Amino acid sequence: MAVGGFSGVDGPVGSFSGKITLSVVITCIVAASSGLIFGYDIGISGGVTTMQPFLQKFFPSVLRKAAEAKTNIYCIYDSQVLTSFTSSLYIAGLAASLVASRLTATIGRRNTMVFGGLTFLAGAAINGGAANVAMLILGRILLGFGVGFTNQATPVYLSEVAPPKWRGAFNTGFQFFIGIGVVAANCINFGTAKRSWGWRLSLGLAVVPAAIMTIGALLISDTPSSLIQRGKVEQARHALRKVRGKDCDVEPELSELKKASDVAKEANQEPFVTIFERQYRPHLVMSIAIPFFQQLTGINIIAFYAPVLFQSVGFGSDSALIAAIILGLVNLASILVSAGIVDRFGRRFLFIEGGIQMFVCQVGVAVVLAVTTGVSGTKEISKGYAILVLVLMCIYASGFGWSWGPLSWLIPSEIFPIKIRPTGQSISVAVNFATTFVLSQTFLTMLCHFKYGTFLFYAAWNALMTIFVALFLPETKAIPLDSMNSVWEKHWYWRRFVCGN
Ligand code: BGC
Repeated sequence: MAVGGFSGVDGPVGSFSGKITLSVVITCIVAASSGLIFGYDIGISGGVTTMQPFLQKFFPSVLRKAAEAKTNIYCIYDSQVLTSFTSSLYIAGLAASLVASRLTATIGRRNTMVFGGLTFLAGAAINGGAANVAMLILGRILLGFGVGFTNQATPVYLSEVAPPKWRGAFNTGFQFFIGIGVVAANCINFGTAKRSWGWRLSLGLAVVPAAIMTIGALLISDTPSSLIQRGKVEQARHALRKVRGKDCDVEPELSELKKASDVAKEANQEPFVTIFERQYRPHLVMSIAIPFFQQLTGINIIAFYAPVLFQSVGFGSDSALIAAIILGLVNLASILVSAGIVDRFGRRFLFIEGGIQMFVCQVGVAVVLAVTTGVSGTKEISKGYAILVLVLMCIYASGFGWSWGPLSWLIPSEIFPIKIRPTGQSISVAVNFATTFVLSQTFLTMLCHFKYGTFLFYAAWNALMTIFVALFLPETKAIPLDSMNSVWEKHWYWRRFVCGN
């Protein structure tokens, strides 16, 4: 087995562990359910921050400003205070994801997931019972720590346990559960929006997904690679037998994992230093570029804008939430499509197809809005055109759902050699959160000033990232994790970095 960047030996592709067993399926479903808490938070916070009783209690100035600011359809929710509240989670998550690198290496992937789940649970309880803004923010910081840990550990867990041939499909489970969390949260907001204490229920119910994933994580064992790395060879053998099936001889795979771990230990370097070595430049670039581009697809602005748009054309807040639910369901269905084809057609195909699809839809939304609402955004958009915008947004959401959504968690978790895998994933999650933070700080103001041009801005990024993938991302489907170095060695650009090391 090649420990990426060292021996350069291509392990026999798929020679071990090619089979899908019931145990590996259940284990991965349980692990992937960690995505629930991230999704739930994404879905719940957008809705709660538009609930009048919530704003009245914690942010009354926002309500006063909203009443005065109804100048055009783009500026209604442009409030810095609310934005800071929502995005405090991302700063906490960023810090946690960096710490998580060391944590997953020392206590294991599974235990990090449990730790993240418990932290999120505490945050949810504090938020549900919040009596003042301080409690609200403390709760949010704990939620952030929670998702920082789970988003770092879970994709690595899935990639290490999944059979290499089906790693894409298994890893997609994480984004699928994020999607379920988003839709569940939207439905809950739909039910609670009309009650004065509804926001409390919406925020407090986050304990449910947290409990589900924490209990689930307690029931599964850690990944064989992680167990070996921590010197627990017998447990690793047992875990490997469980996921690969009783009739499978796990010794060859076990001994390869041991070798990889020994090489990693011998190197005994600080992973945050190693990762900056020239031979890991392609890996590092991908772990930064992929999550950065994922956020610049504009997924969160579309998700946020759909209900606002619907409310502003007089569909009422119910239809606004229904629009969010429709978008969420389309997104979910498309993630399933991704799971079905990612290991057959490959990552590059999905990235490129999805990127083009999102580009076309965003240009379409910009044109429809410019033509119907006027350059200033003050003209009324008719319901027919609003529905056209929703259709375009659905096509957009499906493009995201089968490309940049799941693949942005998959790629960083599968390209690194074991000794810097947790570090690579940490950097990736930190970049995801940092970019989400910056965009959420700016996008409402941007929408207010650039109006429909905001969608053209994101369209341009979609074009750029599609070209980036076409030129720089090698295909990684079906390659065992420990043979991954070969994809860089064969790549027209990256081979100069990895060869000769
Ligand atoms: C992204 C989030 C996004 C979510 C949508 C995730 O992969 O990181 O920013 O809100 O997908 O389902």
